[in-house]
Amino acid sequence: MGSDCPQRKEFRLLPSLLSADFFNLSEQVHSLEAAGCDLVHLDIMDGHFVPNLTFGPPVVKSLAESSGIDFDVHLMVDRPDDWIEAFDFPNTRCITIHAEAGNHVHRTLQSIRDRGMMAGLSLNPGTPLDCLEYLWPTLDLILIMTVNPGFGGQSFIPACAEKIEAVSRLITERSERGMIIEIDGGVNRDNLGGLASKGAQWIVAGNSVFTQPHLGQAFKELQEIGKKNWKAQ
Ligand code: DX5
Ligand code: ZN
Repeated sequence: MGSDCPQRKEFRLLPSLLSADFFNLSEQVHSLEAAGCDLVHLDIMDGHFVPNLTFGPPVVKSLAESSGIDFDVHLMVDRPDDWIEAFDFPNTRCITIHAEAGNHVHRTLQSIRDRGMMAGLSLNPGTPLDCLEYLWPTLDLILIMTVNPGFGGQSFIPACAEKIEAVSRLITERSERGMIIEIDGGVNRDNLGGLASKGAQWIVAGNSVFTQPHLGQAFKELQEIGKKNWKAQ
């Protein structure tokens, strides 16, 4: 599934557009693209699964039509089944749903894959790893939340770092080569290298990119730290 996509084999720093300046969204995305960014993280919130609302398919459609950048869609919504088709754009590489969202997670993951996208499962800080047990064959990516989902700019929860090591061990034991570990929440230039060295291949960064005056430069610096430290499974 998506095995030919370079983002699957290399480290990626994914700016989260949740922290972007929405009035200047197109300009900001173009600055990131010019700095070599080829994958952005899109946080879709419904006000039910998480206590916040963000943007929906029309905004993502505009982005798809005006840039060549790829999308990593993070669905923080109840009933994710209802939204897979709506976020299936040519740019969408991966759609991730939460383990607690929806009644039929296995079917939803399969439907994402059937559309040719990578399927991800997101684990909240309190979600144990046993929910992965029967889902491995339908998974391309495991997103470990390092804050409680819903808002940008929160502080990293240190206990979640242990989960990266635990998931990494499971991947090795099961020989699930190619499985991507993604980290989301509270990442900054001080903790990024350590997270990448524990096996995090895709690392999301919202505030630590968009609060900087030069987005392209901020992206490049963080991407470089991750690349230097990432250890492939
Ligand atoms: C939080 C979102 C994150 C958020 C990360 O629910 O899933 O993607 O944008 O933002 P920072 O990097 O600012 O914690
Ligand atoms: Zn996210």
